[in-house]
Amino acid sequence: MLQVHNNNELSAQIRDWKQQGKTIAYVPTMGNLHEGHLSLLRLGDEQADKLISSIFVNPMQFGPNEDLNNYPRTLEQDCKALMEHQCDLVYLPTVQDLYPDGLKHMTSVQVMDITKRFEGEYRPGHLIGVSTIVLKLFNLVQPDIAVFGKKDYQQLQMIKKMVHDLNLNIDIIAGETVREESGIAMSSRNQYLSGMQQSIAVELQQQLRKVAEQIKKGDESFSTLTKDAINSLSHSGFEVDYFDICHQQTLKPAGIDDPLVILVAAKLGNTRLIDNIEI
Ligand code: PAF
Repeated sequence: MLQVHNNNELSAQIRDWKQQGKTIAYVPTMGNLHEGHLSLLRLGDEQADKLISSIFVNPMQFGPNEDLNNYPRTLEQDCKALMEHQCDLVYLPTVQDLYPDGLKHMTSVQVMDITKRFEGEYRPGHLIGVSTIVLKLFNLVQPDIAVFGKKDYQQLQMIKKMVHDLNLNIDIIAGETVREESGIAMSSRNQYLSGMQQSIAVELQQQLRKVAEQIKKGDESFSTLTKDAINSLSHSGFEVDYFDICHQQTLKPAGIDDPLVILVAAKLGNTRLIDNIEI
């Protein structure tokens, strides 16, 4: 596996592979790889000749009071896992490589409408930081295919919309959420949870499943269903940002005949968890 730090070195390698007619699958990450990331790498590996990943903890997508400085960094272990998953090249840029002029006056990409609610509301600037870095990384890596997990559902749908709106010639593939045995969606931030919090965190998925079952049975009282779920979660100790039923592609309010997804974000102590279920 090639480890590339420099943008020119990356471009030269990609030019070489493109000249040989190789297709490229890309899995962008912020490192601290877990089974969720590895499943995305497997998907990418199946779909193209060359598999590229990147590790970059993107400062632009962290709010001022978020965990940028404490975000788990496990480079050596990550490179080993990438190698074991047939990754051909890992791109390891520094903040200086990607934001040489700093962040303050940086051009940004805002994907309209789909980013207004949910994470857009509760983490101002986060989704703009994600779309901007993902477009920059797409421009550098020039993949044919890019793989994103359904765990970050709004991020996935936002990137699909960005690719559509900006005519990028990239197929976005969605990977299913990988869960711990307990049912908690895998996330690098789960390690912040105490043992007690881990056992409470399980309820997030339980509530999602309960509401999904009700909807599948034909219950259309969405506002009662979501209110009850928020009450139950609050009672268990969560501070709920949102628990909402919406359209899978647009994330707008939708009816029982639409493709639906239930999105939830809630804090347990200082740890913010997100999860979702498609219906
Ligand atoms: O999902 C993530 O890990 C990040 O948001 C991404 C897509 C790598 C952009 O920094």
